[in-house]
Amino acid sequence: MNEERAVAAAMDGTAGFLYRTDMVRVNEILQQKEYKACYEAISECEKTRIFCRHNMSHFLDVARLAYIESLKRNIKVDKEIIYATAILHDIGRHLQYRENIPHEEASVLIAEQILEHCHFQKEETGQILEAIASHRNEEIRGCADLKGLIYRADKMSRLCFACDAREECNKSDEKKRLEL
Ligand SMILES: [Fe+2]
Ligand SMILES: [Fe+2]
Repeated sequence: MNEERAVAAAMDGTAGFLYRTDMVRVNEILQQKEYKACYEAISECEKTRIFCRHNMSHFLDVARLAYIESLKRNIKVDKEIIYATAILHDIGRHLQYRENIPHEEASVLIAEQILEHCHFQKEETGQILEAIASHRNEEIRGCADLKGLIYRADKMSRLCFACDAREECNKSDEKKRLEL
Protein backbone atom coordinates (compact mmCIF):
# COMPACT_ATOMS: atom_id res chain seq x y z
CA MET A 1 0.00 0.00 0.00
CA ASN A 2 1.45 3.40 -0.85
CA GLU A 3 1.59 6.04 1.84
CA GLU A 4 -1.24 8.22 0.55
CA ARG A 5 -3.62 5.26 0.37
CA ALA A 6 -2.50 4.12 3.82
CA VAL A 7 -3.23 7.57 5.27
CA ALA A 8 -6.64 7.66 3.55
CA ALA A 9 -7.49 4.17 4.83
CA ALA A 10 -6.49 5.08 8.36
CA MET A 11 -8.54 8.30 8.22
CA ASP A 12 -11.73 6.67 7.00
CA GLY A 13 -11.35 3.82 9.44
CA THR A 14 -10.77 1.04 6.90
CA ALA A 15 -7.30 0.37 8.31
CA GLY A 16 -6.66 -0.19 11.98
CA PHE A 17 -3.26 1.43 11.93
CA LEU A 18 -1.23 3.71 9.76
CA TYR A 19 1.30 1.73 7.76
CA ARG A 20 4.36 3.97 7.42
CA THR A 21 6.44 3.37 4.35
CA ASP A 22 9.08 5.75 5.72
CA MET A 23 9.52 3.60 8.83
CA VAL A 24 10.26 0.23 7.26
CA ARG A 25 13.89 0.03 8.35
CA VAL A 26 13.14 1.53 11.77
CA ASN A 27 10.59 -1.24 12.35
CA GLU A 28 13.19 -3.74 11.22
CA ILE A 29 15.59 -2.46 13.90
CA LEU A 30 12.91 -2.91 16.56
CA GLN A 31 12.47 -6.53 15.47
CA GLN A 32 16.17 -7.44 15.47
CA LYS A 33 17.10 -10.15 17.95
CA GLU A 34 20.16 -8.23 19.14
CA TYR A 35 18.11 -5.06 19.62
CA LYS A 36 15.49 -6.86 21.69
CA ALA A 37 18.15 -8.59 23.80
CA CYS A 38 19.87 -5.27 24.61
CA TYR A 39 16.55 -3.59 25.34
CA GLU A 40 15.64 -6.35 27.80
CA ALA A 41 19.08 -6.16 29.44
CA ILE A 42 18.65 -2.40 29.96
CA SER A 43 15.17 -2.93 31.47
CA GLU A 44 16.61 -5.52 33.82
CA CYS A 45 19.42 -3.18 34.93
CA GLU A 46 16.98 -0.29 35.43
CA LYS A 47 14.25 -2.22 37.27
CA THR A 48 14.79 -0.33 40.50
CA ARG A 49 16.39 2.82 39.06
CA ILE A 50 14.89 6.01 40.49
CA PHE A 51 16.57 8.29 37.92
CA CYS A 52 15.85 8.67 34.19
CA ARG A 53 15.32 5.40 32.39
CA HIS A 54 16.47 4.44 28.93
CA ASN A 55 13.34 2.84 27.57
CA MET A 56 11.10 3.12 24.51
CA SER A 57 9.38 6.23 25.87
CA HIS A 58 12.73 7.98 26.10
CA PHE A 59 13.84 6.78 22.66
CA LEU A 60 10.62 7.96 21.02
CA ASP A 61 10.61 11.27 22.91
CA VAL A 62 14.07 11.87 21.47
CA ALA A 63 12.94 10.83 17.98
CA ARG A 64 9.88 13.07 18.00
CA LEU A 65 11.61 16.09 19.51
CA ALA A 66 14.47 15.81 17.02
CA TYR A 67 12.05 15.40 14.12
CA ILE A 68 9.96 18.40 15.20
CA GLU A 69 13.09 20.55 15.43
CA SER A 70 14.26 19.36 12.01
CA LEU A 71 10.94 20.49 10.51
CA LYS A 72 10.82 23.75 12.42
CA ARG A 73 14.36 24.77 11.53
CA ASN A 74 14.40 23.13 8.13
CA ILE A 75 17.37 20.92 8.99
CA LYS A 76 17.36 18.37 6.20
CA VAL A 77 17.67 14.90 7.70
CA ASP A 78 15.37 11.99 6.74
CA LYS A 79 12.81 11.08 9.35
CA GLU A 80 13.90 7.44 9.14
CA ILE A 81 17.49 8.40 9.94
CA ILE A 82 16.37 10.51 12.93
CA TYR A 83 14.21 7.69 14.31
CA ALA A 84 16.89 5.05 13.71
CA THR A 85 19.43 7.15 15.62
CA ALA A 86 17.03 7.88 18.46
CA ILE A 87 16.06 4.26 19.07
CA LEU A 88 19.72 3.19 19.02
CA HIS A 89 21.50 6.04 20.83
CA ASP A 90 21.33 4.43 24.31
CA ILE A 91 21.09 0.77 23.27
CA GLY A 92 24.41 -0.09 24.95
CA ARG A 93 23.38 1.33 28.29
CA HIS A 94 23.40 -2.08 30.05
CA LEU A 95 27.13 -2.36 29.28
CA GLN A 96 27.73 0.87 31.19
CA TYR A 97 25.95 -0.59 34.22
CA ARG A 98 27.55 -4.03 33.93
CA GLU A 99 31.00 -3.40 32.51
CA ASN A 100 31.55 0.30 32.99
CA ILE A 101 31.85 0.91 29.24
CA PRO A 102 30.68 4.46 28.35
CA HIS A 103 27.29 3.79 26.80
CA GLU A 104 27.82 5.98 23.74
CA GLU A 105 30.76 3.72 22.82
CA ALA A 106 28.85 0.51 23.54
CA SER A 107 25.86 1.80 21.59
CA VAL A 108 28.00 2.54 18.52
CA LEU A 109 29.33 -1.03 18.46
CA ILE A 110 25.88 -2.58 18.83
CA ALA A 111 24.21 -0.17 16.40
CA GLU A 112 26.78 -0.79 13.67
CA GLN A 113 25.83 -4.47 13.43
CA ILE A 114 22.11 -3.81 13.62
CA LEU A 115 22.19 -1.11 10.92
CA GLU A 116 24.02 -3.42 8.58
CA HIS A 117 21.33 -6.08 9.00
CA CYS A 118 18.60 -3.53 8.40
CA HIS A 119 19.91 -2.38 5.03
CA PHE A 120 21.24 1.05 5.89
CA GLN A 121 23.75 2.37 3.38
CA LYS A 122 27.35 2.93 4.42
CA GLU A 123 26.96 6.70 4.39
CA GLU A 124 23.74 6.60 6.44
CA THR A 125 25.35 4.26 8.96
CA GLY A 126 28.33 6.61 9.28
CA GLN A 127 26.06 9.57 9.97
CA ILE A 128 24.01 7.65 12.55
CA LEU A 129 27.05 6.27 14.37
CA GLU A 130 28.62 9.72 14.53
CA ALA A 131 25.47 11.10 16.17
CA ILE A 132 25.34 8.23 18.68
CA ALA A 133 29.04 8.62 19.52
CA SER A 134 28.66 12.33 20.21
CA HIS A 135 25.29 12.38 22.00
CA ARG A 136 26.96 13.27 25.31
CA ASN A 137 29.46 15.72 23.87
CA GLU A 138 28.49 19.26 24.83
CA GLU A 139 30.60 20.71 22.03
CA ILE A 140 28.08 19.65 19.39
CA ARG A 141 25.03 21.11 21.11
CA GLY A 142 24.64 23.94 18.54
CA CYS A 143 25.15 21.87 15.36
CA ALA A 144 22.44 22.17 12.69
CA ASP A 145 22.65 18.50 11.70
CA LEU A 146 21.66 15.04 12.91
CA LYS A 147 24.10 15.00 15.82
CA GLY A 148 22.94 18.41 17.10
CA LEU A 149 19.28 17.39 16.74
CA ILE A 150 19.82 14.21 18.78
CA TYR A 151 21.93 15.96 21.42
CA ARG A 152 19.29 18.64 22.03
CA ALA A 153 16.34 16.24 21.88
CA ASP A 154 18.04 13.94 24.39
CA LYS A 155 18.35 16.82 26.87
CA MET A 156 14.88 18.20 26.12
CA SER A 157 13.28 14.81 26.69
CA ARG A 158 14.16 14.78 30.38
CA LEU A 159 11.52 16.13 32.72
CA CYS A 160 13.69 17.11 35.71
CA PHE A 161 11.14 19.72 36.81
CA ALA A 162 8.66 16.91 37.53
CA CYS A 163 11.09 14.28 38.80
CA ASP A 164 10.87 12.96 42.38
CA ALA A 165 14.57 12.00 42.34
CA ARG A 166 15.72 15.48 41.30
CA GLU A 167 17.51 16.21 44.60
CA GLU A 168 19.49 12.97 44.54
CA CYS A 169 20.42 13.21 40.85
CA ASN A 170 24.08 14.01 40.25
CA LYS A 171 23.41 16.16 37.16
CA SER A 172 24.45 19.75 37.77
CA ASP A 173 21.61 22.24 38.04
CA GLU A 174 22.62 23.78 34.69
CA LYS A 175 22.14 20.40 33.04
CA LYS A 176 18.79 19.72 34.68
CA ARG A 177 15.71 20.74 32.75
CA LEU A 178 14.00 22.70 35.49
CA GLU A 179 11.38 24.41 33.36
CA LEU A 180 9.57 23.89 30.05
FE1 LIG B 1 22.68 8.52 26.53
FE1 LIG C 1 19.27 9.30 25.87
